[in-house]
Amino acid sequence: MSLINQEITHTYALYNGDCVKVMRDIPGASIDFSVFSPPFADLYCYSDSPNDLGNAKDYREFFTHFGFVVAELARVLKPGRNVSVHCMDIPAMKERDGYIGIKDFSGDLVRAFEREGFIYHSRHIIWKDPLIEATRTKALGLMHKQLQKDSIMSRAGLPDYLLTFRNKGANSVAISHPDGLTRYCGKHDPTKGETGIKRSHNIWRAYASPVWTDIRQTHTLNHKNARDGDDEKHICPLQLDVIERACVLWSNPGEVVLTPFMGVGSEVFGAVINGRRGIGIELKPSYYAQAVRNLVEAANHKNQTDFAFDHDNAAIGNQLQPSKGGFDETLVTANDQAERQP
Ligand SMILES: C[S@@+](CC[C@H](N)C(=O)[O-])C[C@H]1O[C@@H](n2cnc3c(N)ncnc32)[C@H](O)[C@@H]1O
Repeated sequence: MSLINQEITHTYALYNGDCVKVMRDIPGASIDFSVFSPPFADLYCYSDSPNDLGNAKDYREFFTHFGFVVAELARVLKPGRNVSVHCMDIPAMKERDGYIGIKDFSGDLVRAFEREGFIYHSRHIIWKDPLIEATRTKALGLMHKQLQKDSIMSRAGLPDYLLTFRNKGANSVAISHPDGLTRYCGKHDPTKGETGIKRSHNIWRAYASPVWTDIRQTHTLNHKNARDGDDEKHICPLQLDVIERACVLWSNPGEVVLTPFMGVGSEVFGAVINGRRGIGIELKPSYYAQAVRNLVEAANHKNQTDFAFDHDNAAIGNQLQPSKGGFDETLVTANDQAERQP
């Protein structure tokens, strides 16, 4: 077993290891919902480990490796239940790709899930300010001076997406909201003080909107201390509004939510403060350590909802056998896996 560390409580189980390996120890059809943000192909590399999906030698190798993650998700998710993937399309760059353009990463994720029998269920677009993207990336297509010079290269900014897929089979436990939605999370409460079912209708209208313009971009978990000395970039934690909306729509209180790419713990934190139980897997020890610290905070969070499950009977996750420290180099690398593919 490729496990470096673990933290198991009644409400969450955190594993420091490779998600493909750790998921193999999760029983089939035991997860109610999964939400995560994977490495965006080969855009950022988080660690030196060959098991880091961000370490793929190219875009194709990323999807070979990611295929193993999707296969495990299809196995561990209950039939008819959903998985939500946060992503964006990826700019193609002259130096790296030989051309300037956009890679259809979201479309390739859809095809990867469809190959494993998932049904493409929903796409939310999460609005992002093109000026912030222009300042951060210096993308030619967003520069005002490029527009003045020759707008043939001018383009739209790149939004985030939340793609949701449904596992094959029939869902056996409804996710019902008899009182509708009662708590709005986001920037502009659309209910204007309304109550009851009217309020619920307006929250639902905001959540069902194909474009989410009301996500608080900076409402995220602490990630500053997760940095390793040699890290070039900070991790970018997923906004808690996105996680809360997904958990509330696609899981019941007390159910188990999995993230195979835990980072600093946002999805597990979001699940726990909304009365779900969370399982998170993270490869990089410094991010895992920050997730452990962040999850301690979850117990004291002001939005903490009552847990609708029996604490005495609620050992979540299995205690797994840790390896003796450091990355387990016997892990299968993406190349090895590609060779084993039929
Ligand atoms: C986009 S980040 C996720 C950030 C997370 N949503 C958060 O809010 O902190 C992707 C994460 O996947 C991790 N990762 C990459 N390959 C992995 C693997 N094989 N198993 C587990 N984690 C992996 C990276 O170290 C990184 O923390």
